[in-house]
Amino acid sequence: MASANIIHVTGLSKSFGSLKALDNVSFVVRQGEIFGYLGPNGAGKTTTIKILCGLLPRQSGEVSIGGLDIAEEPVRVKQRLGVVPDESNLYPELTCLRNLDYLGELYGLSRAARRARATELLGIFDLTDKKATPFGALSRGLKRRLTIAAALVHAPEILFLDEPTTGLDVPSAKALRALIQRINQQDGVTVFLTTHNLFEAEALCHYVQIIHKGQALAAGTAQEIRQRVTGRKTLEVTFDGPVPGDWWQVPGYRGRPPAPVNGRWHLETAGQELHQVLAFLLVRAEAAGVKIIDLEAGGANLEEAFLAILQEQRPGKEENP
Ligand SMILES: Nc1ncnc2c1ncn2[C@@H]1O[C@H](COP(=O)(O)OP(=O)(O)O)[C@@H](O)[C@H]1O
Ligand SMILES: [Mg+2]
Repeated sequence: MASANIIHVTGLSKSFGSLKALDNVSFVVRQGEIFGYLGPNGAGKTTTIKILCGLLPRQSGEVSIGGLDIAEEPVRVKQRLGVVPDESNLYPELTCLRNLDYLGELYGLSRAARRARATELLGIFDLTDKKATPFGALSRGLKRRLTIAAALVHAPEILFLDEPTTGLDVPSAKALRALIQRINQQDGVTVFLTTHNLFEAEALCHYVQIIHKGQALAAGTAQEIRQRVTGRKTLEVTFDGPVPGDWWQVPGYRGRPPAPVNGRWHLETAGQELHQVLAFLLVRAEAAGVKIIDLEAGGANLEEAFLAILQEQRPGKEENP
């Protein structure tokens, strides 16, 4: 993978009235990577994409795409990027082929060039047999695919995808992720993707930036982020009899010491894999001669994980609920 930075964002801020949608956000995207911008609803993901793509003016901060500032050279920058908004912008009454052809025309491609490109894209996106079908008649998953194809008509270097798999069924989402990987690997397109789905970020992205309430929090490889988030699972355990008070002292356990409430022990898996804690639990229960009669694992609640990471990064600063 090439390692030059293709997007530089420094101190980006944007308010809507008194709401700070983006508050001093900085990050870089490397050329050739799939960059994940991960955060819950309302985090500021769409606002960021809109500013980066020149669809919304920024208030302060620097945005450079391929060394150019979109506020100064909007046309040149827009030639280099493709955007897939969260809602499709294609014409429902036009056929798939005609939608792509029309966009090619807007980008100034010759008739022959845009026909060739449309045919190629329909092939890549497995939509050749739908070329004469009106966009509006496609299933949700196929609509999303054509919308991505449309963003690639002018062969951009960077593709922005705003929550590409949200609202799709599992097989469609899976197929779409494979396509995004293919576009990245085969065509070398840098992908900037927003998602609120940790699994998706992990499955697709080389690098992940977490955004929460307009603030850029932890960043790292998907594996690093996953460890920080899944390191925060909680377990509720109930035994069928008394256990020694120190049973929970798993080697390396870094969560708070648990105390039983109505016989249920609340345990955190901070710093450890869930399976290690579970394995140890079974050993301890066996040694104490008790059985586990109830066990509940609190899923990787991303919202809670974001808050925990926020508090880690800004010690002493309380978050408003
Ligand atoms: N045009 C707008 N006017 C007022 N508030 C907005 C506007 N667009 C977004 N917001 C607010 O800004 C925050 C960030 O929104 P958005 O970027 O859409 O988040 P995300 O895409 O991460 O869900 C939210 O609180 C949202 O309600
Ligand atoms: Mg959004």
